[in-house]
Amino acid sequence: MFIANWKMNGSQSMLSDWLEGVGKTLDKSLQKQCLLCPPVCFLSEASQLISKYKLNISLGAQNIDPSSFSPITGGIDGAMLRSIGSEFVIIGHSERRDIFKERDSLLLEKLKSASEDGLKVIFCIGESLKEKEENQTAKVLKQQLQIVKNAELNEFMIAYEPVWAIGSGTAANIDYINKVHREISDEVSSYQKEGFLGVSYGGSVDSSSSKDILLIKGVQGLLIGGASLQYQEFCNIVLSNN
Ligand code: 13P
Repeated sequence: MFIANWKMNGSQSMLSDWLEGVGKTLDKSLQKQCLLCPPVCFLSEASQLISKYKLNISLGAQNIDPSSFSPITGGIDGAMLRSIGSEFVIIGHSERRDIFKERDSLLLEKLKSASEDGLKVIFCIGESLKEKEENQTAKVLKQQLQIVKNAELNEFMIAYEPVWAIGSGTAANIDYINKVHREISDEVSSYQKEGFLGVSYGGSVDSSSSKDILLIKGVQGLLIGGASLQYQEFCNIVLSNN
């Protein structure tokens, strides 16, 4: 799966150019592997454009508010996301963990809400540079995965994003990704959850690094930030998978 996480980027014109470009560049079977997560304000239009251009691309939201927290000013719950075409939702991204101080108790509520509203989940985990340097990676990731173990989930993918690689311009090295993905896969497989879709890698992926990363056996997808904003570069990443 190729997940385009636009973060807080984009516009209506960029959205239609991007979808039209991806539609012209990738055949239907490759489109089927693509998931676009634009800012929530563009989801409805993205859904309409996908129908208009007859595309095979899925949509996801970048965040969800637990329905148990209603009323909450500015909140958007899973049913709302579903109603505007979202099939997936990203939960636990390091930017939200760091900047908005999202902790396990809140993330568990979000997982529950996503499940109740029939959304599939991209659950992000990753260690900081300090944790990596202190050889704490395996321990930290296992800890972050505990709420997945305890939550009822529909289909879900784990996205491993080392925090130190995000936006740095350099992806983690192949041996490191290989080792960590194996550990994550073993851990999550031991939970015996039916909906487990595998482990994606994210963190400065572009078309120069994607091919080698995709060759790693334990990598079932890519979560792409900056390099997903230009449709040509996003398509180059998808096309590097052969
Ligand atoms: P970059 O690809 O820009 O490093 O972002 C990765 C990411 O955080 C995707 O969720």
